[in-house]
Amino acid sequence: MLTRIDHVGIACPDLEAAIARYESVFGLTVVSRETNSEQGVREAMLAVSAAPAASYVQLLEPLHPDTPVGRFLARRGEGIHHIGYAVPDITAALAAIGESGVRLVDERPRHGSMGASIAFLHPSDLGGVLTELVQARGGRALQPCETKAI
Ligand code: CO
Repeated sequence: MLTRIDHVGIACPDLEAAIARYESVFGLTVVSRETNSEQGVREAMLAVSAAPAASYVQLLEPLHPDTPVGRFLARRGEGIHHIGYAVPDITAALAAIGESGVRLVDERPRHGSMGASIAFLHPSDLGGVLTELVQARGGRALQPCETKAI
């Protein structure tokens, strides 16, 4: 079901400072920047490895304190927010995981970074780890997605 770790989502109070850290310490490169008003974040994806086995660091800055990432920062501080796993068929994965008893934050896939279809699983049923499923752009269940450049 899970084919690789797609990305690690990291909550940060200052996106530009976080990007500068990953660029200077690890030599990573920003491959996508988006504002996702539905999720209340400004974000950057930095490539760790290239396609077809691409993986990323996803840096997330809240648009407002009263957003999921804003509340996370207030409660836990800067750090790892979620893990995103790649799946070949997100609809099938959600159905199978739902049957296992894990609660789904998203019953149906929604639009994520770089045109992917994504869905979150409830951390309370996964040892406290907010978990995201990612079906990359070009996969079967994907719908066209518009993203806003920063
Ligand atoms: Co993510």
